[in-house]
Amino acid sequence: MNHPSKGIGESHGKIILLGEHSVVYGEPSIAIPFLGTKVVATVVKTSEPTRIDCDFYHGLLDEMPELLESLKETIRVCLARLNQSEARLHLTIDSQIPAERGMGSSAAVSVATTRALFDFFKANLTQSELLEIVHISEKIAHGNPSGLDALMTSSYTPFYFIKGKEFEKLNMNLDGFLIVGDTGVTGQTKEAVESIALKVSDSSKEWAKEAITELGILANQGRFYLETNQGDKLGDTMSKVHGLLQKLEVSSPELDLLVETAMKNKALGAKLTGGGRGGCMIALAKTKKDAESISLALKNTGAKQTWVYEMRGS
Ligand code: PMV
Repeated sequence: MNHPSKGIGESHGKIILLGEHSVVYGEPSIAIPFLGTKVVATVVKTSEPTRIDCDFYHGLLDEMPELLESLKETIRVCLARLNQSEARLHLTIDSQIPAERGMGSSAAVSVATTRALFDFFKANLTQSELLEIVHISEKIAHGNPSGLDALMTSSYTPFYFIKGKEFEKLNMNLDGFLIVGDTGVTGQTKEAVESIALKVSDSSKEWAKEAITELGILANQGRFYLETNQGDKLGDTMSKVHGLLQKLEVSSPELDLLVETAMKNKALGAKLTGGGRGGCMIALAKTKKDAESISLALKNTGAKQTWVYEMRGS
């Protein structure tokens, strides 16, 4: 077969705007593609055994450590579907998404790799086949993935998502800027999800169930504000969500400090994003100038990195 000399695949990070944790209990959530962080995968032919170069590993595919098992699975599944299991390739992955911060880094790497391999072999890749392949490898990384990460890291529009239902495209209609602040601390999604499950199943903690219901109501209200350009109200909603997530004990001192700092610097609202107990927080600002001063204040308060994202940019 006549191959191009290079296959290229891209993807990006994701941010949960509203609904983390409550989504596990059937409540709605809103997530947006985060184009500020990209992954680029490049495939070229080689005469040597297949080799991988990424941030965490430089070496042969066959000797990849268990930590990268999900990436290995992506490559295996793709090559099998392409009838190219014996191909000798050199795959380079360049990721700007910090790992384990709730930004969907493992799904994004899988999306970019799948796209690059299909591009290299000039094979057509539908969105549903892409999601199917990424789902197989995400099961290794996360056990029981909702599919939200795979969708968001490969799409360019925000989505409204209820577990087990069709994803619904959202019409982003908001003038404003989102600031993402990385605490630099690894998030603990699994532990946080488990700790909420304990509270919700404890009959003496009725308040926890009420908090989950309230988070669902707030996600629906947030959707309305996002679609009707009401940044002030969306900001209030985000701050209320952070309060409830704090009550459910999935925030952390680092996240709280960054949220507080954003609020002291003219944010319309701020909250943790994703699983919590580390990872990232987000804040909403009315203008680019406010967003930049919030970003600076976050850095001065210990944020490892920050990104500013124009809401209409998606
Ligand atoms: O930390 P992330 O981005 O993987 O987000 C987890 C979102 C939760 O709602 C906390 C868990 C889930 O499975 O939906």
